[in-house]
Parts: sequence; C-alpha cells; structure tokens
Amino acid sequence: MRDFENVTLTSEEETKRQYAFMERAREYVREKEQQLGRKLTFHVQTFGCQMNARDSEKLVGILENIGYTEIDDEHADFVIYNTCTVRENANNKVYGRLGYLSNYKKKNPHMVIALCGCMMQEPAVVEKIRTSYRFVNLIFGTHNIYKFAELLCRTFESDSMIVDIWRDTDKIVEDLPVKRKFSFKSGVNIMFGCNNFCSYCIVPYVRGRERSRQPQDIIREIEGLVADGVCEIMLLGQNVNSYGKNLENPMTFAELLREINKIEGLKRIRFMTSHPKDLSDELIYAMRDCDKVCKHMHLPLQSGSSRILKIMNRHYDKEQYLGIVRKLRQEIPDIALTTDIIVGFPGETEEDFLETLDVVQQVEYDSAFTFIYSKRTGTLAAAMDNQVPEEEVKCHFDRLLREVSGISARKAAALEGKVMPVLAEEINEHDAALITGRLDNNAVVHFPGTQDMIGNIYNVHLEECKGFYYLGRVEEDV
Ligand code: 5AD
Ligand code: SF4
Repeated sequence: MRDFENVTLTSEEETKRQYAFMERAREYVREKEQQLGRKLTFHVQTFGCQMNARDSEKLVGILENIGYTEIDDEHADFVIYNTCTVRENANNKVYGRLGYLSNYKKKNPHMVIALCGCMMQEPAVVEKIRTSYRFVNLIFGTHNIYKFAELLCRTFESDSMIVDIWRDTDKIVEDLPVKRKFSFKSGVNIMFGCNNFCSYCIVPYVRGRERSRQPQDIIREIEGLVADGVCEIMLLGQNVNSYGKNLENPMTFAELLREINKIEGLKRIRFMTSHPKDLSDELIYAMRDCDKVCKHMHLPLQSGSSRILKIMNRHYDKEQYLGIVRKLRQEIPDIALTTDIIVGFPGETEEDFLETLDVVQQVEYDSAFTFIYSKRTGTLAAAMDNQVPEEEVKCHFDRLLREVSGISARKAAALEGKVMPVLAEEINEHDAALITGRLDNNAVVHFPGTQDMIGNIYNVHLEECKGFYYLGRVEEDV
C-alpha cells in the first residue's frame, strides 16, 4: 500500500491529466472494436451505500466517455464491482459473484474484470484476490477512483494484474465525467471519509480521514445538475453534521443547507448521514426554515443502551439521543425519523437490548434498518472477547424487527387519507397510466398522471396505504 500519492498536481491539473488518459483509453477501445468487429460493452455492479452508488456514476461516466456501451448484466467485455465491506456478508457476495465471472471470462477471453471500493482497502482481501482470483485484471481502492481512466490505460497495456491501493489521500478531484442513474435526482458528495472510529465500524479505515468539499464547488455542481433537469439532491457524507470543520474558511452544515436552499429550480434537498453527537440546534433551525429541505432525518441510534453506546464510542447516551428527538419534533412536528440499529454488539445483554426496544417504542421510527453485528477485523470491537452467541443475537434481532415493522406499518397507515406533497419521479414500471413519486419521508406513492408531470411537486390525496407504498390521486398543483 502506498501512503500519500505524490500530491504535486493541483486538482485542476489532475482533471486535465485524466482527460488525456481518457483520450488514450478511447484509442484502445476503438482498436479493440475494429479487431472484434463489434461494440464493446461494460457492466458496473454496485454494492453498499449511496456513496458507492454515486462513485459508480463516476465509473459509468468514464466508461461511456471512452466508448464502451452499458449493459445490465455481467456478460460484458468490462465488468467492475464497486464493493462494500461494512458487514461480512457484503464481502461474501463479491467472492460468490467472482466465481461466476471466472466462467464468463473463459468464454470471452477479451473480458476485463476490475474491483474497486471499500473492500479493496483491506490488505487481506487484496492478498486473497491476488492468490485465489488471478483472472482479475485491475484492483483499486476508494482514494484513487479519480484515476480510473489512468488505471484503465495501465490495464489495457499490461498482461498482469494491476493493483493500486492508497492508504489515504487529502485530495479531491472535481469535474470528471459522471453519468447519472436518474435524470431527476442525484447524489452530491459534500465530504469524504470519517473521523469517528465507532468501535464496530470499518469505514474510517477504508474511507480515510474527513475531507470537506469547498462550498462553492458544491453549489456550482448543484446549479449544473438543476440546469440539467435535476430537482432533488441528496447531500452525501459519512457524517454530514461535521461538514466544513476542516475547511480553510470553516462553514457549518446548517450554513451550507441555507445556501443550497437558495438555488433556484431545485425542489428537494435530502442528506445522509447525520451523527447524533454533532447534531446542532442550528441544523434543526435550518431544517425548519428551509422550505426545500425534506422533513426527514435519518439518525442512526445503533443502540439504546448508554453502556453499549459508550463502548461503541458514539459520544452520546440514551437520554441525549431522546433529547435530540424531542427537540426535532418540537421544531418540526411532522418530521419523519429513520434509523440504523445494530443487534449483538459484543457484551450486549438482555437489559441492553431492552433499552434499545424502549427507544424504538418511544421514538416510533417511520422506518429502521436493523443489522446483526458483524465482526470487522481491525476494528476495536473485533478484539473484544465477549461476542454474543448467535442464537441470542438472532432472537433479539427477530424481536426488534417485529417491533420496528409494527411501528412502521402503524406510522404509514396513519398518513392514509391525508393530502401530502409528492414529487413526481417517473412513469410507473408496471402501469404507464401511473406516476411513481415520493413523499418528503421518501415513501413511494403511485398516482394517475402523465410524463409531463415528472419533476414537479403535487398535493396528492393518499387514498390507500399498501404497507410500504400508497395509492393516491392529485388534489391540486402546488
Ligand atoms: N456490524 C453491523 N452493522 C454495522 N454497521 C456498521 N458497521 C457494522 C458492523 N460491524 C451499520 C451501522 C451503520 C450502517 C451503515 O451499518 O448501523 O449506521
Ligand atoms: Fe462508521 Fe461511525 Fe463513521 Fe458512521 S460515524 S461511518 S458508523 S465510524
């Protein structure tokens, strides 16, 4: 692993350099197409979070720029897996699929296989691929994704596996090609990395230290997106509440939100993820005041037990968390709340688990992602010797899931009959007479409508709740 790459180029110079590599890569693709007498295809498979989804849009942007055509399965000339390593099963999925890929490659010897993303930042993974998956052509990590075009050229020019993983970076390279998955909505990175080192979490080790983008670069990107038809953005960061702290001219996340809220033509602003320890009153007021900011907060709880939260290194306790929820509801009464919860953290007892259930019952989340604790090598928790027996974890997990689902269903049903703003997002996949849209809280609503409505917000009467989606009818234009 390299430490810091020789960081002598400015971000603008690096962008130019990468465009030169795209030019060169385009030549390779053209030559290969002539040789084969057909177009070359690619497939990008994304695992994990929204951050990875956004990174994949960057990969697609470059692959299309150099002349490849996208297809939606792995029978392609170029296949790249953008991996996740937050839990063990994310890793297992990748190994499983690599098995299939080796067969595809036997049938198509021109096939190029690449791996990138969080899992590749783990030395043990790279070692395993080097020895057991030798048909892989290219491996790179999270910090040098902006060098994708350059790495492609190196791969096209080499017969052996190219491996380029950096330990960290302080660089943010802007303005490379991006191909959005959706025309009307987009993720926007506002910061990279995480400094929190929650004791169960691998992310700080694979995504490096916190780096915030300059506010003017973020605003410029969003203005460009809006000019290109985007009406909803999701601001992305591992911990958006600590945005701007390390900028030369520090700026808070609340200030950034207020600035973005002024962008004309933008309709909805979402963000993810908020850490409770950094959630300021200033942010609550900004959410309350900014009309474009969705009244939805994803606020990972992880555990309701103050004792466990301390060992998790979360820097808040049960009462503080509940205090934030009270404050949020006081200022924004109809706010939707969602969360992440881990079951089976080392040493978690029945009592600890009951504390978690208690928070779930008190807060009444609109929805919650529940995870079984997964031991990640290299984290502090992995070294703890009081891992909870599997059956106990499973039993707690099922109880939690039942509780969470019951509450979600009740909360969803409570909106039935109400009239709520819905952003029309796309024609319904199964019925072209319907539009599929989303509420502020991200819940899906289907309602009769036409293509020209897409990108606009309508007041929709939620006639029927079907569990996790609604059927509705437009009341009036907003
Ligand atoms: N085991 C289980 N869940 C985890 N998460 C992060 N690390 C682990 C782990 N080791 C969950 C947290 C986080 C979400 C993205 O993934 O709940 O908020
Ligand atoms: Fe992981 Fe904690 Fe950072 Fe979230 S805040 S990415 S859970 S270390």
